[in-house]
Amino acid sequence: MARKAFIIGDPISHSRSPLIHGHWLSKHGIDGSYEAIHVKQAEVGAFFSSLAHSGFVGGNVTVPHKEAAYAHAAIKDQIADEIGAVNTLWFENGKLRGTNTDSYGFAQNLDERAPGWDSGGAALVIGAGGASRAVIHALKSRGFTDIRVANRSVERAMELRRGFGATVSAHGLAALDEVASGVRLVVNTTSLGMEGDGEAPLNMQLLHPEALVTDIVYVPLETPLLKSARLAGLRTVDGLGMLLHQARPGFEKWFGILPEVTPELRQLIIADMELHS
Ligand code: ATR
Repeated sequence: MARKAFIIGDPISHSRSPLIHGHWLSKHGIDGSYEAIHVKQAEVGAFFSSLAHSGFVGGNVTVPHKEAAYAHAAIKDQIADEIGAVNTLWFENGKLRGTNTDSYGFAQNLDERAPGWDSGGAALVIGAGGASRAVIHALKSRGFTDIRVANRSVERAMELRRGFGATVSAHGLAALDEVASGVRLVVNTTSLGMEGDGEAPLNMQLLHPEALVTDIVYVPLETPLLKSARLAGLRTVDGLGMLLHQARPGFEKWFGILPEVTPELRQLIIADMELHS
């Protein structure tokens, strides 16, 4: 029988995940499907309650339902617990299991495109939402001991410090210049730059001269932050690879093969972004 997987979110029409999984399904000749389902906040409880009888082998969960998925999964792994959110679900022995692959996707993308990115120094994370938690998890597990979180709301950054411990410090955006001084890695996790025409919020001259600047936003591929870093002569990595890499473990759970992130797949998604821009 064909295996069915889903992605839920609100909104969901912009999601590139069906393209990614569809590409892997046809590449590996697997009899399966992966469909996007628009689930609103008020409907998410009912969606999870009926999931066991829906015929799905599992699926992905995106904004704003990752915390609800965490609450509904019967069994969660340690990564999901540390991030407090689930983006990948699958059934095992009739039980709904959940993990979070965003931290893995973030680290794998940098491993591929900027080897040595985790060799030390201070890191600056802009933003303190759900995506920021996954990034901080990845940084901590790669041995970063000075993780500076700068956020519009300092209280939210302080919550992360309380959750992740003293390797994380909390700052407001007003202190950005001071906090950015000498850092080796900058990660933007906020939707700032989503429109592609905003001002980059950071003075690149303050960073370590060998700093790496990355953004988890991938529309546009080169965000204002990345552009400004490139013009300052710094290394940059865009966020598309994180999206591609976070998808791999879910595909393996549902369809039995760990697929590869190839230049062909990357090009497929870029072509789709250009089509819809
Ligand atoms: P996600 O799961 O994508 O991280 P989120 O949990 O809603 O989404 O978090 C959004 C992040 O973007 C937060 O850090 C938010 O700052 P606040 O915590 O102060 O709200 C940040 N953000 C969103 N719009 C912003 C803006 N216009 N200026 C500064 N920060 C912004």
